[in-house]
Amino acid sequence: MERILLIKNQLSGNNQTNNKNENSILVENAVFKDKTYKEIKIVTLNNQKSLNALGKSFLNLIYETLLKIDTDDETKVIILTGIGKAFAAGADIKGISKNDYAFVAKNDWDFLPIENISYHMNKPIIAALNGFTFGGGLELALACDIILASDKASLAFPEHKLGLIPGAGGTQRLTRLMGYHKAMEFILTTKNIKLEEAKNFGVINDIVPHDKLIETSISLAIDICKFSLMSIIASKKSMKMALETNLYGGLKAEKYIFQGLFNTEDKKEGVKAFIEKRPPQIKDK
Ligand code: CAA
Repeated sequence: MERILLIKNQLSGNNQTNNKNENSILVENAVFKDKTYKEIKIVTLNNQKSLNALGKSFLNLIYETLLKIDTDDETKVIILTGIGKAFAAGADIKGISKNDYAFVAKNDWDFLPIENISYHMNKPIIAALNGFTFGGGLELALACDIILASDKASLAFPEHKLGLIPGAGGTQRLTRLMGYHKAMEFILTTKNIKLEEAKNFGVINDIVPHDKLIETSISLAIDICKFSLMSIIASKKSMKMALETNLYGGLKAEKYIFQGLFNTEDKKEGVKAFIEKRPPQIKDK
């Protein structure tokens, strides 16, 4: 991989966390069959010692990193993965150990805006689940657009063991994906969601041999990147409306997003190229 950024964040013992591990994030251009793809960024969560536990300051770092990539001119697709044996083992339990209700209420303490960053971004994110994907880690993954899981990944919401609930989108997203009864079973029992079952319910897109996880993710990203960024962004915007509104509102939003594309260079070129029976020259404009 061609490493382009290493973003570090040395945590200090404060009231958010007492974990002295060093969090960092690696950002690399994807390489596939000896070719570098600058339009595909691989973002790796890198705190092996704590299994990428998501403390507030690590989440802020993830947020800032993804936002920066989302607004650069180069990137079209992002792959989010973790180092070692975890994608992310959930919220930083040590960090929240001293927080009481007064603290979280006064600070309106909530994971949702930062954990849902991928959902709010323009560019699609493929979550490549390399290992433990628990609690807030699973919520981070569910907020992504496509999820590939290594055959060594394990998925669960263990929050009930801590007297908590999946509080960063888990109760909402898993219920929408699996249906009320099945999601209830996993959240109430905290048991692992079998990968095959997760795939059958559409919680994840596919299960991939562990050593092929990144390669498969890049290959999928390349298939997406062949097309105009304007269409990619428009489809993501429009499809989110299917989750956020009723059918009538969604259809209206889709119509306006569709109409907006008629002004792009890539639409003009795509249609012209079809008529002239040649491949289009995509400009992402
Ligand atoms: N927070 C803080 N530290 C964590 C952590 C977490 N979520 N998960 C793991 N770690 C730390 C461990 O404390 C340990 O550190 P030390 O070596 O300093 O003791 C290190 O990472 C390695 O962990 P284990 O020794 O436990 O590794 P393991 O392979 O035996 O077990 C595991 C792995 C099954 C994932 C286990 O670590 C575990 O159960 N972790 C907690 C998972 C969890 O409950 N997540 C939900 C958090 S709450 C939440 O996410 C709320 C929300 O919805 C936002």
